[in-house]
Amino acid sequence: MNVILLGPPGAGKGTQARKIVDEFDFDYISTGDMLRKEVESASRLGKIAKSYMNKGDLVPDSHIVEMIVDNLGELNARNLIDGFPRNISQAEALNEKLTENQQKIAVVLHMNVDDEELINRLSTRAVCISCQAPYKLKSPDEILNINCNNSPNKDCIIKVRDDDNPKSVARRITVYKNETFPVVKYYKDLNVNLVDIDARGTEDEIFQEISKFIVV
Ligand code: AP5
Repeated sequence: MNVILLGPPGAGKGTQARKIVDEFDFDYISTGDMLRKEVESASRLGKIAKSYMNKGDLVPDSHIVEMIVDNLGELNARNLIDGFPRNISQAEALNEKLTENQQKIAVVLHMNVDDEELINRLSTRAVCISCQAPYKLKSPDEILNINCNNSPNKDCIIKVRDDDNPKSVARRITVYKNETFPVVKYYKDLNVNLVDIDARGTEDEIFQEISKFIVV
């Protein structure tokens, strides 16, 4: 069973993904988290991806598609996919792989938030570099005083993402509108079960809403 989280940067995809995984037992596949681990380990892919990510551009499909389809697993796998597909060509590649595996998309959760709120959220967001859990900062100084609740590694570091600066955030929002948003129409045209989620409430309210559409 495959559930896809689609939405602009800062919509709360990573936040909701962690709640869904805890409650419904999915394998969590996040292309953003995978790429940040590659960057952190300075792998070949990480070195290529870094410059695209820091500018707010998409990493080229040739590097992404293989990384994700190799992680999809077998027929009975329960995948929660966050950050993929990000353009029509990735959506087509995913469809091809799912058909080959005799799998389907159970639901696409399309999370909507206005630009002003996205910018506000991303200007106060930090992440744990160990488990990638997102945190909301009350002020930039707070980063020195918080610990990650999730990581077994107590020495883990919470930091502001390199792409959460105003220029990259603006670019990521533009890239979302131009390249990723058309995927919504693509899925609607294919009659895939796509649900629009108003993602402006509290994290718990949004989770209640999302939970209604996750078939267990
Ligand atoms: P990725 O890591 O996927 O980033 P993104 O899509 O830009 O999304 P974010 O992680 O910024 O936001 P989110 O929606 O997960 O929000 P979060 O829950 O953290 O991708 C990064 C980069 O990798 C891309 O730009 C690209 O370069 C590359 N990449 C990734 N996938 C790719 C692909 N398929 N192809 C090519 N390139 C790819 O929440 C944000 C903040 O808001 C947090 O502080 C959180 O605490 C807070 N928050 C969450 N919910 C709420 C709420 N309801 N109310 C108030 N605050 C909230």
